[in-house]
Amino acid sequence: MGKYQEQFTKSISDAKGFWADAADAIGWHKKWDAVLDESNPPFYRWYKGGELNTCWNAVDRHVEGGRADQVALIYDSPVTNTIEKFTYRELLEQVSRFAGVLKSLGVNKGDAVIIYMPMIPQAVVAMLACARVGAVHSVVFGGFAPHELAIRIDDARPKLIISASGAVEVKRLIEYKPMLDKAIQEAAHKPEKCVIFQRNLVKASMILGRDLDWNELMASAHPVGCTPVLATDPLYILYTSGTTGKPKGVVRDNGGHAVALRWSMEHIYGVKPGDVFWAASDVGWVVGHSYIVYAPLLTGCTTILYEGKSVGTPDAGAFWRVISQHEVKVMFTAPTAFRAIKKEDPRGEFVKKYDLSGFQALFLAGERLDPDTYHWAHDLLKKPVIDHWWQTETGWPITSNCRGIEMFPIRPGSSTKPVPGFNVKILDNSGRELGPKQEGLVAIKLPLPPGTLPTLWQADQRFLESYLKPFPGYYFTSDGGYIDEEGYVFVMGRVDDVINVAGHRLSTGEMEEVVSTHKDVAECAVIGVHDNLKGQLPLGLVVLKAGADRDGDDLKRELSQMVRNTIGPVACYKETVVVKRLPKTRSGKILRGTMRKIADGEQYAMPSTIDDPATLGEIETVFKTVGYGKKGS
Ligand code: COA
Ligand code: AMP
Repeated sequence: MGKYQEQFTKSISDAKGFWADAADAIGWHKKWDAVLDESNPPFYRWYKGGELNTCWNAVDRHVEGGRADQVALIYDSPVTNTIEKFTYRELLEQVSRFAGVLKSLGVNKGDAVIIYMPMIPQAVVAMLACARVGAVHSVVFGGFAPHELAIRIDDARPKLIISASGAVEVKRLIEYKPMLDKAIQEAAHKPEKCVIFQRNLVKASMILGRDLDWNELMASAHPVGCTPVLATDPLYILYTSGTTGKPKGVVRDNGGHAVALRWSMEHIYGVKPGDVFWAASDVGWVVGHSYIVYAPLLTGCTTILYEGKSVGTPDAGAFWRVISQHEVKVMFTAPTAFRAIKKEDPRGEFVKKYDLSGFQALFLAGERLDPDTYHWAHDLLKKPVIDHWWQTETGWPITSNCRGIEMFPIRPGSSTKPVPGFNVKILDNSGRELGPKQEGLVAIKLPLPPGTLPTLWQADQRFLESYLKPFPGYYFTSDGGYIDEEGYVFVMGRVDDVINVAGHRLSTGEMEEVVSTHKDVAECAVIGVHDNLKGQLPLGLVVLKAGADRDGDDLKRELSQMVRNTIGPVACYKETVVVKRLPKTRSGKILRGTMRKIADGEQYAMPSTIDDPATLGEIETVFKTVGYGKKGS
């Protein structure tokens, strides 16, 4: 039996033994009573009764264990021309001091804190300081509009919000503070205080009595130590798009998370303590939580916080510059970032300017890695390019080529095999397990391994309905795909109304809620259509109210602005087509999936439940007129 098979088999047949062994890599304040608590299925909890502190494991233990002078964090910001390095000792100094600030503001174990910050070191410090005092952080991505922030404020009910005065998006200055003020105004829940980090870029105006200055607080703060928490206590909430306007608050606990992420660094990514690891993502996404902040620090690596893009900051050589300048061994980003480089520098001329000899492997995730991008990246870098599949909910990869265990030959289009701990199955609509090469719904047999979501924030019922009830005994991923005869998993895309735009997960249902409020729109549907650069882009189909005689371009602009103002620029909602009616089933369900296939020029079968087959013909005609209907349009 190969090394991978050995580990995978043990992880399924003796999950408790496997994860008890892995937990030895983490420092525990008190050992667990049970590795896996199975007393309340389908809710499973790892390391029940155990106590630890995630911040201690990510920072203090490395200072105590001989890494005090090793660089923990490199802040590389081409948009502000800054490079700043923090050793583990310096990081501990900042984090323990900011934890003191939190304590002085009455933030205690179990309190929620929202962090709405750009990619600056203070965001990482704030996250770790929350972990240090046992508070539950919820980071909100900066590309979301105030309304989205307000929804999260009302759901998480934070005692405190931490933010910054602004950021630079390539060349555009974004003021965060007015957006924060607007969100708090809209939200029903009001935080007691806001801590604002004033950047040199822009000065935020402060509200007396509510807003406090980060630097002033830090100057007089007293460092505090780590508060032990239960392994099963929440570390963070991360909101992610579901199929409705209300995002899902994915909960991550402390114990399982620390064990799984620590394990993943060596076994999946093949990274050792002391190595430089770079995830070019954003702290507002799960990749940022897991692989910019927690996993590299739990492992004693050097992590990079990059405030820039793959292109435009300043050019398509940005990634190669960072890799060579900071001696990155392993990098992680989204395929779309590589497609953006390929578009600007198709022959890869920029690579020649940098020494990438120390670079070992590129990991890609966030969306399907299309074979073209795979081949381009691989031919250019001549290093392993590894597609791996996961979700906000799982927090770490479900399928991957596990570089630290055993590498398999790469099959473009597949994210290789299930990672130990994830018992991946393909099901048909009735929940029957399908055989090799049969395409169906991707599910994972329970229990999920440590580090995956135990529930949704204060929404156990929604957790059950969304993930566990569709197929009892399994976690339903909402992705479709198949497994081949040799166990390679091919994930083909979402089977629900979630789309993936430039590696950003978005809900078409949420966009529909916005579009439908336009005064001239009687009915609408938003679907995700293929885009060569961003993977998918939203496309709105609207039926106008009787008598509404609208110029298409004006309507398009208005709807685009409405989505931008309500959800955020990151939604990239730009295209709308006006149709006479929407194709529906006899029970009134809009046939979004079929329309998506037509827009992408894919084969589709006439749904047996369709109310009026002529409606699909009408859609085809409209799409052809506006240029949809062929792959790559
Ligand atoms: N704050 C404010 N605005 C933001 C933002 C942020 N943090 N992030 C993105 N935006 C804005 C952008 O400025 C852009 O605005 P515009 O419509 O006025 O131009 C809009 O949201 C769309 O952004 P994006 O889709 O990111 O497009 P882009 O052209 O700016 O960049 C890529 C394209 C491919 C370089 C970029 O999307 C990328 O690097 N994606 C990878 C995403 C990722 O890391 N995902 C995590 C999984 S690994
Ligand atoms: P997010 O929660 O933002 O990480 O998005 C998760 C979704 O992105 C998954 O359900 C998939 O649809 C998609 N996804 C992420 N990584 C991959 C991948 N490597 N291959 C295919 N789809 C992916």
